[in-house]
Amino acid sequence: MPLVDLDRFDFLYANRVKGMKSAATRDLMAMLSRPGIISLAGGFPDTRAFGEEAFREISHQVAADSAQALQYGPTGGLEGTKEIIVDVMEAEDIRAREEDVFVTTGAQQGLDLVGKVFLDEGDAVLCEGPTYAGALNAFAAYRPNIIHVPMDRAGMIPVAACEALKEARKRGTHVKFIYTVPNFHNPAGVTLAAERRRELLEIAGRFDLVILEDNPYGMLRFEGERLPTIASLEQESGEPDRVVYLGTFSKIFAPGVRLGWVHAQPGILHKINIGKQGADLCSSNLSQMLIYSYFKHADWRSYVKCLTTLYKERRDAMLDALLEFMPKEVSWTHPEGGLFVWATLPSYLDATAMLPQAVKKNVAYVPGEGFYIDGAGKNCMRLNFSFVEPGKIRRGIEILAEVIRERMELRSDLERGSRLATRSMVRNTER
Ligand SMILES: Cc1ncc(COP(=O)(O)O)c(C=O)c1O
Repeated sequence: MPLVDLDRFDFLYANRVKGMKSAATRDLMAMLSRPGIISLAGGFPDTRAFGEEAFREISHQVAADSAQALQYGPTGGLEGTKEIIVDVMEAEDIRAREEDVFVTTGAQQGLDLVGKVFLDEGDAVLCEGPTYAGALNAFAAYRPNIIHVPMDRAGMIPVAACEALKEARKRGTHVKFIYTVPNFHNPAGVTLAAERRRELLEIAGRFDLVILEDNPYGMLRFEGERLPTIASLEQESGEPDRVVYLGTFSKIFAPGVRLGWVHAQPGILHKINIGKQGADLCSSNLSQMLIYSYFKHADWRSYVKCLTTLYKERRDAMLDALLEFMPKEVSWTHPEGGLFVWATLPSYLDATAMLPQAVKKNVAYVPGEGFYIDGAGKNCMRLNFSFVEPGKIRRGIEILAEVIRERMELRSDLERGSRLATRSMVRNTER
């Protein structure tokens, strides 16, 4: 009997699976249901806000056409869903036509399909550093090189993107697309500045690449000026062509319906259609009809407003608590919307190693490492504020600050100890 139960099918698994690892956020999910835990880890919208009664009503309407709800549908989505998507995109100033919209099983499937359509093994993708871990996971199946582009408070730095593209070209690496989450970035919480959106578009044109604009949080703005999407800037330029835009109902309605969409030019959508046929034939009719029933008849804009009010209050609670409790060596981002704050600890601290200690004290977060492919982000953490009430957020941050302080003290004790040991060694050798 082997001592370790090795996976006996290892010799049969495809090479692509060997390089794939589970997203830290997904792994944390099981732990988060533990009673008493204050979870600042998940990326959960607060679906409790929607309400049972409203859900019962739309379900009732869908039940009236149960035969269609229970049936297979077209691969690209039902006409009614596309009509709703066009309306939602208009709220982001994108003039979409129903034929340029393709319904997916969440934006997550959009990421996978774009990877499937564009990436051969060894191709490269430019991503923000850090980037959405679910995107890294989706792309990993196609074995690309991920090139992280540094960010600052105004998002991805275009000069650095340009440099990375020149370098890649020199090496003979084929970069296929730039992946960006422009608004209230997951996990960094920052927003790509308007002039940088234009610059990225210009760079993509110069290097003849696609831009994959993933915008789940754009409508969850608490304050500040609304910025144009990259897709709308491209439309303004009169040459809509290279921006592939991903949208989702997860954050403006509910992730449980698992519905998102891709907006792109017809050639790309045709390939995506073929990719989706092999993945799941079509997204759920039942979910699409729930969406139609709600978005067609209810005031969805007011619901989004209600969500932003709720999340703003929680964002404020988190920022206030960070300011009150964190040691001065810790810094964090100030998101103007979305769900996340990104905190940076002193470089010698390891947020992954610290997590068990935090969980023992009933607080969870996502360590930063999972948002990079190259081991960076060890001293960072993603903090979610959308799901937990303000009082608990405050308590959670207070505990987290205690844990960080303990680690910092431990480090200075160790340093002091090693300085003393060195000094006594020197004294002993001098004697
Ligand atoms: C940046 C980003 N893209 C895509 C997704 C996936 O969203 P969906 O629920 O639509 O699959 C998420 C989910 O949190 C996300 O944060």
